[in-house]
Amino acid sequence: MNLISSLSDLRTKRLSLLGTVGLVPTMGYLHSGHLSLVSRAMDECEHVIVTIFVNPTQFGANEDLSKYPRDLERDLNLLSSLSSPSSAKELIVWNPSAETMYPLGYQTWVNVEALTNPLEGAMRPGHFKGVTTVVSKLFNATQPHKAYFGQKDAQQVAVIRRMTLDLNFPIEIVVCPTMREDDGLAMSSRNKYLNKDERTAATILFRSLSEAKKMYEAGERNADVLRNKMKEVLASEPLANVQYVSCADYDSLEELNMIENKSLLSMAVFIGKTRLIDNFVLG
Ligand code: PAF
Repeated sequence: MNLISSLSDLRTKRLSLLGTVGLVPTMGYLHSGHLSLVSRAMDECEHVIVTIFVNPTQFGANEDLSKYPRDLERDLNLLSSLSSPSSAKELIVWNPSAETMYPLGYQTWVNVEALTNPLEGAMRPGHFKGVTTVVSKLFNATQPHKAYFGQKDAQQVAVIRRMTLDLNFPIEIVVCPTMREDDGLAMSSRNKYLNKDERTAATILFRSLSEAKKMYEAGERNADVLRNKMKEVLASEPLANVQYVSCADYDSLEELNMIENKSLLSMAVFIGKTRLIDNFVLG
């Protein structure tokens, strides 16, 4: 494994890599969800670059940037357990500084329009502008053939796909399934903030999505009925404070009346002070 911080070292390294390169962008504090992305990238590509950068521009003023968990040594240990010293495959970790990513006087942004308006975009103004800007910069710096993202951030995936198409990045976006704990809670670096009672309560997201999916599988296609079912289950948990519940078209993210094509059930819920998101894809 090779740890690089400067952009010029990364560029020199990238020029030396022959064959397919997979990129796994992360903000660190890795969990099994991230590691599954790295493993998949290692299976499918000759070399893998994992970026670790807590991107300040995707956090709102009242969000948890300064508290966001960071532990580079722990991340490197986890990643080194995936790379085999005897393999010709290179696993490169790029950990740029904020000054490298956003030089003094920075004023250039990438913005996807309509797709970033609903759901997370409505609750977290400016969030996706920060995500698409940093992901474009990571794409430019690492020049990957494939980039790996988790389905857990469903809107992020839709927005990055749109951006990749619109800006003609020659990159395949690979979406990997959400990794879950045994009780269904979607893995997230933010789960670390939950105390014992909150951790138990947090399974309510998975349970409400599962109940709505059961109804869909039994033939229900009225989106309001599914949204109401999710709200009803969430309301049974006193520690849950619902921010939004959605049943939307998978590609456009527009709210549906009736489900006819692939669609997305999604939600954002505060458990105590911790904001959690989760989703299921239907069809
Ligand atoms: O999903 C994340 O961890 C971040 O949004 C990403 C894609 C690494 C950009 O900072």
